[in-house]
Amino acid sequence: MAANSNYEKYRSDGSLLGGLLEWVDARFPATSLWKAHLSEYYAPKNFNFWYFFGSIALLVLVIQVVTGIFLVMNYKPDASLNEAGLPVAFASVEYIMREVNGGWIIRYLHSTGASAFFIVIYLHMFRGMLYGSYRKPRELVWVFGTLVFLCLMAEAFMGYLLPWGQMSYWGAQVIVNLFSAIPVIGPDASLVIRGDFVVSDATLNRFFSFHVIAVPLALIGLVVAHILALHEVGSNNPDGVEIKKLKNEKGVPLDGIPFHPYYTIGHDLPAIIIFLFCFCAVVFFFPEGGGYFLEYNNFLPADPMKTPEHIAPVWYFTPFYSMLRAMVWNFFGIDAQFWGVVAMGAGVVILAFLPWLDRSPVKSIRYRGPIFKTLLTIFVIGFLILGYLGTKAPGHKIFDKDWLNGDLIAQIFTVYYFLFFLTMPFWSKIDKCKPVPERVTFK
Ligand code: HEM
Repeated sequence: MAANSNYEKYRSDGSLLGGLLEWVDARFPATSLWKAHLSEYYAPKNFNFWYFFGSIALLVLVIQVVTGIFLVMNYKPDASLNEAGLPVAFASVEYIMREVNGGWIIRYLHSTGASAFFIVIYLHMFRGMLYGSYRKPRELVWVFGTLVFLCLMAEAFMGYLLPWGQMSYWGAQVIVNLFSAIPVIGPDASLVIRGDFVVSDATLNRFFSFHVIAVPLALIGLVVAHILALHEVGSNNPDGVEIKKLKNEKGVPLDGIPFHPYYTIGHDLPAIIIFLFCFCAVVFFFPEGGGYFLEYNNFLPADPMKTPEHIAPVWYFTPFYSMLRAMVWNFFGIDAQFWGVVAMGAGVVILAFLPWLDRSPVKSIRYRGPIFKTLLTIFVIGFLILGYLGTKAPGHKIFDKDWLNGDLIAQIFTVYYFLFFLTMPFWSKIDKCKPVPERVTFK
């Protein structure tokens, strides 16, 4: 509003800036893009802290791309051994850490950025579940989001091979081998992924190529689609009320405020500053994250002749890794390993169907009934437990009891994870919801 009239003023005040703006606008939709996505994008006025994470995810994406560009300047995707007997790729990371000016900070920003990305994205997705942001008309926003999540997982998995440490090597070996359990096409598929019969230089080169070019391009394209889809239908909010239903005579939603400057400066900027403080604290004082952000075994060069005692993926994959390990049954005479891969993939893909599984008459948790609140709480606890168990070796004992081992608990919560989604069409319909207000609640 005030911000918009400024453009009109600039454009007509005969100043150099105004003239330049007019010149650009005659050739490129700069002002109209600015208006459509920022100064005249009317967002509900009741956003809370859950709405920080989309902008923070964008910031982390930029951090990853920029630090990645600088890492590539000195990193070498080469598995051959140098004169010191170290793999060239591993040695190039050590070189970045010790010899390149500022190399250590660039590398730690990038490695911490990977974990930060997943923390932010998990919270961002959870917000969607809390407020039913995936429901009509935002189904495509959510579907693009799940594709972004898939790309992010592929990006992180391939990036983790690049330092060519023990966990890079053996983690990739385990995961790529899993694909060979797929009937008929499996063995050839894993051969194509590796480019060899074992994880080798060929694998490192193709993962490098995908990690720096193909997947980031897809990721950025999907994020653009995600935001365009959101801006087409407008943002949801903690009340799950559609603000576009009530507009003033100028067509502005009564409960909407311009995204810029109110949310950019007044909401997201302070959150970004706090996020950067926490992020830098980890980068400077705790870059290994207790062995969760950078696993200790990965400080050792890859050795195809020495399998680490316990191979665990990085923390953000562990809930899905637990689902993979939980499948121990040979259904239909097909090896359990195949069903493990199916469970792991289905665990991610099922998220995309959420908009059609949820049949509740209301969107936000504020007005949903006790069934949703209880089942969602168990879902979150179960997901965290699956994540924890995925970091432990199979057969992990709990409270030192033989009968209560991690495998059983992981099986229970894997079954719960899928039942939560598959039975949702039934329980979401019968839950006792509260009446939803006409307007958003705002203090
Ligand atoms: C690189 C990853 C991602 C980026 C940069 C990103 C960015 C954003 C941004 C900037 C917004 C608007 C601000 C906000 O509502 O917080 C948003 C909204 C949204 N995102 Fe994402 N997102 C990402 C991944 C995901 C994923 C993985 C999902 C779900 C599977 C998802 C689901 C949503 C939904 C449902 C909304 C609308 C929320 C509402 O209006 O209540 N996003 N995203």
